[in-house]
Order: sequence, then structure tokens, then C-alpha cells
Amino acid sequence: MDEHGIRGLAIASQDAHAAFGGVVPEIAAREHIRSLDAMVRHAMREAEVDHADISGVGVTAGPGLVGALLAGVNWAKAYAFARGLPLLGVHHMEGHLFGTALEHEGAHPPFIGLLVSGGHTLLLEARAWGRYRLLGGTRDDAAGEAFDKVARRLGLPYPGGPQIQRAAERSAAAAGGAAVGAAGRFRLPRPMLSRRDLPGDPAYYDMSFSGLKTALARVAEQLEEEGALADAVDDLAADFQEAVVDVLAEKTRRAVEQTGCRRVVLGGGVARNSRLREGLAERLGSSGELYAPSPRLATDNAAMIAAAARFRLARGERSPWSLNAEAALAFPGLA
Ligand code: KG4
Ligand code: ZN
Repeated sequence: MDEHGIRGLAIASQDAHAAFGGVVPEIAAREHIRSLDAMVRHAMREAEVDHADISGVGVTAGPGLVGALLAGVNWAKAYAFARGLPLLGVHHMEGHLFGTALEHEGAHPPFIGLLVSGGHTLLLEARAWGRYRLLGGTRDDAAGEAFDKVARRLGLPYPGGPQIQRAAERSAAAAGGAAVGAAGRFRLPRPMLSRRDLPGDPAYYDMSFSGLKTALARVAEQLEEEGALADAVDDLAADFQEAVVDVLAEKTRRAVEQTGCRRVVLGGGVARNSRLREGLAERLGSSGELYAPSPRLATDNAAMIAAAARFRLARGERSPWSLNAEAALAFPGLA
């Protein structure tokens, strides 16, 4: 058992998608079917547990790619049914909140949750586990999706988030170590962020990253025509990253100010971005406490799903044997 109470955790990453510049749904589903059995066995061996030690089964039921989700849901149903165990379908993004809580004692409600992944960007207030108020979210692209698309435009490989971060770090190093590098050079916009936003306006918390992506594409096109894009990629990446961090950090700061909730729990793959964690901490200052997951638990993993399932199973919740995968599963417990 590690220091976070995780006894065994197996993670398989699918490299096959990189060649296509994004996730290919059918490949994802087939890879799940191929590897699930061995993954469970691996995790159980690491945990030194036997089938008889398992008391419940949690599985991601949505949102996401239905084919991949169905592979997991069907495996979980078959296992739970055969062993006579309770089954619980978990919402992927609620799982990310529990992922951070696994590592931090302080990451418990009440808190402001900022969830940033490849498919979703959500800002919420957690009043208790399972009781949430949605403050805002993206109106178009998710934060991670924006990183991935911008990386692609700049000719960087998939997944783009880590590549953008690395390029921005090169920009910073070239600028003599300034934290934000040459960010600001291209004056990229901060969509839906204005000092005139008022609490109560949907725009106060909502976000949009599609316009930022388009603005960057326009700058990239101009640079390309001048034959100057290759030399500007690092600075452009730094500029883009800074714009995203600016928007996310300010919306989060507003949530802390308006709710009086000091704790901020960050979750999702984009939480791996060190400039985002830094920018959030800077913006919150002494008015907030930031809890961010380590890379292992920021990226999609089964420990966070197990933690969410354990909470819901303990309070008596069960999913029916008819549990289905849902591409657009609604966030649970929204007031
Ligand atoms: O939560 P996650 O592992 O999978 C989904 O639920 O989508 O998040 C994946 C996303 C991808 O868009 C990836 O580019 C992004 O997280 N990501 C990052 C970084 N590492 C991963 N984005 C920015 N900076 C990073 N260092
Ligand atoms: Zn995720």
C-alpha cells in the first residue's frame, strides 16, 4: 500500500493513437478489451489481494467515447455479477476530484473544484462529497483540447499539452529564465475575461478557448507567410499557455472570493501543467489553498474511480445490472 492508501494501480497508455494525431475511438475500444483482464490481474497482484478480498466494483460510466466506456462497463458488470458484488458507475470528472483527494488530506469539501481535462473544463463548488454547485465551464473547447489543437497547429506531436509546456519552458529559458518566457509577444486574447464581468453574469465564471485557438492560428499563418513560424513556436506556445492560465486562474480566484471557500482542488490531465499550478497559486495568494494532484493521479487512472465508487458504495448506492455507458453523462449531485 502506498502513502495514499492505494494498494495496486495498473495504467496502460495507448501509444497507437499518436500516429493519428488524436484518439481513434475504435482503436481505443479494442485496446481496452485486449488489456483489461491483464490489467486487473496486474493491479491485484501488486495489491496482494485475492478475488475474495474485493467488496465492490467501480467503473467509469461516462462521459467519453462510448466504445471505450462500454468495454469497461461490460467487464465490470460481468465481474461483479459473477462474484456477487455491488456495482457502481462513476462519472469520470467526479473521479478526478477524488483523485486529488487521495493525495491531500486537505482536499475535502467544502472546496472550489477546477477540473481541466481533454474533454471537459468545469468550475464548481463542492459543498460535500456528492453535493456540487456548478459555477461555470467552457462554452466550446475544453482546456486540454485547446492545448492539443494548438500543438497540432504548431506542428508538435500528440498529446499536445506536455509539448506546449516544454516549448513554453524553452521560451522561458531563452528569455533568461523569466517564468512566463516571452509570453505577451503576440498579444493573444483572454476570451470571456473582462474586468467588467459581474457576479451573476454567466460570463463571470464561464470560459471559451475556441477563439483563442483561432487567434493563435491567425498569428501562426502570418508568421508562416514570413517564414518565421519555426523560430516563433516556443514563444507562441508560451503566449498561448499564459492566456489559458490567466483565464483559469482568474475564474478560480473569483469563485474563491464569491463563495468564501478557501480550498481549491485541481483535477484532470491539464493539472499536470506546472505553469497552471504556479499561476493559480500566484493568483490565489493568501486567500486560497491550492491542492493539485501529482502527475500519476492527474492523468486518467483507476484509483480515482475506485475512490469515488468507494464513497458512493459506502452510502448505499448501487448501479443496476442495466448500467450503460453514456457519452454525455451529467455530472452527479448538482444542486
Ligand atoms: O484527464 P486526462 O488525462 O484525460 C481526459 O479525461 O481527457 O487529460 C488529458 C489532457 C490532454 O488534452 C493533454 O494534452 C492534457 O491533458 N495535458 C496537459 C499536460 N499534460 C497533459 N496539458 C497541459 N500541460 C500539460 N503538461
Ligand atoms: Zn480525465
